[in-house]
Amino acid sequence: MPSSILLVTGALVAWFAFKYVSGLRRNIALAKSTGLPYHVVPINPIHNINQIFRFIWLPLWKLVTPKKYWEDVVTVCEHNWQFRNKFVPFAKMGENILVVSPSTLMLHTASPEVIQEIASRREDFPKPTEHYRILTMFGHNVVTVEGATWRMHRKVTSPSFNEKNSALVFRAAIDQAQGMTDYWMKTQRGGSFHSVEHDTMSLALNIISYVGFGLRLVWPGQPLSDDADSKMAKYASLEPPQGHTLTFSESIGGILEHLLPLLLTPTFILNNAPIRVLKEAKKAKENYDLYMQEFLQEKVKDVRRGEKDIGMDIMGSLVATSYQDKQDRGKAGIQMNDSEIIGNAFIMFLAGHETTANVMHFSMLELANNPAAQRRLQQDIDTILGRDSDPATWNYEEKVGAMQASMIGAVMNETLRVMPPVVEVPKKTTSTKAQTITVDGVKHTLPPNTYLGLCVTASSRNPRAWPARPSKITDAQDDLNDWVPERWFRPSLSQEEKRGADLPEEEDFGGYAGPDTSASMFRPVRGSFIPFSEGPRACLGRRIAIVEVLAALAFIFQKYSIENAVDEWASDDEVSRMNQSQRDTLYKKAIQRSRDVIASAETRITLKLHRGQHVPLRLVKRGEERFVSQFDL
Ligand code: HEM
Ligand SMILES: *[C@@H]1O[C@H](CO)[C@@H](O)[C@H](O)[C@H]1NC(C)=O
Ligand SMILES: *[C@@H]1O[C@H](CO)[C@@H](O)[C@H](O)[C@H]1NC(C)=O
Ligand SMILES: *[C@@H]1O[C@H](CO)[C@@H](O)[C@H](O)[C@H]1NC(C)=O
Repeated sequence: MPSSILLVTGALVAWFAFKYVSGLRRNIALAKSTGLPYHVVPINPIHNINQIFRFIWLPLWKLVTPKKYWEDVVTVCEHNWQFRNKFVPFAKMGENILVVSPSTLMLHTASPEVIQEIASRREDFPKPTEHYRILTMFGHNVVTVEGATWRMHRKVTSPSFNEKNSALVFRAAIDQAQGMTDYWMKTQRGGSFHSVEHDTMSLALNIISYVGFGLRLVWPGQPLSDDADSKMAKYASLEPPQGHTLTFSESIGGILEHLLPLLLTPTFILNNAPIRVLKEAKKAKENYDLYMQEFLQEKVKDVRRGEKDIGMDIMGSLVATSYQDKQDRGKAGIQMNDSEIIGNAFIMFLAGHETTANVMHFSMLELANNPAAQRRLQQDIDTILGRDSDPATWNYEEKVGAMQASMIGAVMNETLRVMPPVVEVPKKTTSTKAQTITVDGVKHTLPPNTYLGLCVTASSRNPRAWPARPSKITDAQDDLNDWVPERWFRPSLSQEEKRGADLPEEEDFGGYAGPDTSASMFRPVRGSFIPFSEGPRACLGRRIAIVEVLAALAFIFQKYSIENAVDEWASDDEVSRMNQSQRDTLYKKAIQRSRDVIASAETRITLKLHRGQHVPLRLVKRGEERFVSQFDL
């Protein structure tokens, strides 16, 4: 008996060894055939299971092989490398890093030309939908499908993303920013608050609930909006409505927080295990499922009653399209079942919630760290919108262009460049067809089933695409890793080349200087700035996200300034007795702490702070600043 176990084990080991070696040899041969330099790794680093066990195989690999085989390529096998290492691996190994494992070929690229080519040839380079299983929990949707199904989903979902709805988002973002800042002023204890991330998430969630379902959610103490759709109004209450144990916000918040346990836990265990996290997850999911059924029924009733104007409401318009008369629908070949409608509603939450919140969160942190930029932002807000104007009167069509071209847009763009919520956009070649790409004018053939990572963090720091100045905050030679919104007013590369070396020493940081500034604004090289991806599968919510961030930043900084909290080191009394140089020293300490925390951001679905990391801030009325009004860096 023992000998037969030994025999079977021996045979299995031999079989795995054979598969391993032959797979590696085959893939190395394929890598050679591309003509690109390649790097061999022992295991497919992006496979789920291998990611979990990375803490074993990665050190083992470094232990048993000579350093020259792993010292460069090991970086791109590590967790969070896209953000932690930024452009460095590409500076060492080239803008296209071809990685070979026994089971896969992977190409990570930071080359604007290659990114542009891959993103624009949608059918040649589809999405690896197998990586998106986690997003199908409530049904297939526009993010998780490919081919003809994707075209149908995109066709049905995209009409909601129009300018009329952008204007509604603009309004909603102003109301929400009002609710949030009032809430901060009321609750900041000891003069500071620690919940920027949580609160920007609530703000984004409330807006996306409006976008997705026509729900008008409010902040504690904020009056319910009077034009709220009466049928949906009961769901906006701060108490759970009848039949529910959580409010709608709590249920969606709970789902997003417990996404992984919900996906990975078998139903039986989820329903019975006495584990707190699982119980919370189950409660959130049950509530959410019920809400979705109820919302769907409401929308179906609206459509049956023939109510045409469904307003800002993606679910309503999906229902309208899919429940219309058979003849209308048949022609376009458009039809979604209930599961797909609910799946698409969910994906709007997932895609549009944390991403947008992160951009607002990091923008506020960086503005506190860059007092001069904060003041320029406020100058532009004063010029475009008026220092004393009532935000309720801000007109979307009239103002949005100027806002986007000003420091408001520059702050947003720079946060998207330095801290993109999505750090890598995955693509692949199909399982049946090789594809050719052009690198430096030379054609290279990528075999079928090659994984392609368009590296968002690295392309936006590629020195070939981004004009740089020496860093003012580190000893680095260039400022490409620094948050410098003023770079969006530097001359574009093509202009810079024309002007040759005689760039003015003194730069005009004035920001927005009238309606026509496009000539003086920086335009990134195509493919070098892809926070929303590029090409036909680029972000559907891009316009909404931009409008939301612009409006919220404008609201907040018209009335307030944001400073790093210093109460950990000095009381208000102590600060008031300090002279200028003592204040400078103190504030520099706070900035340094903030920068260290920001540098510890990690990507788990999106790039944000984890492990309870946060930066405390203080919201102050303009004119009552203690630091950012004079401090320059
Ligand atoms: C700053 C905020 C946002 C960022 C940085 C962002 C980024 C992205 C990126 C990188 C993709 C491509 C993903 C991939 O190829 O795997 C994407 C796709 C998508 N985003 Fe966004 N997004 C943001 C906000 C939003 C919002 C507010 C919504 C909706 C309300 C939204 C809806 C979508 C949808 C539906 C897709 C899939 C499009 C398709 O596959 O056809 N996003 N987004
Ligand atoms: C809805 O369509 C999907 C295909 O996207 C299918 O897998 C699912 O079973 C359908 N659900 C229902 C309830 O018909
Ligand atoms: C920010 O980027 C967007 C899109 O790339 C562009 O339209 C806008 O003009 C940029 N804003 C500034 C100030 O450069
Ligand atoms: C500020 O106060 C500190 C400590 O009292 C003192 O050493 C320093 O000289 C003062 N600096 C100025 C510019 O007054």
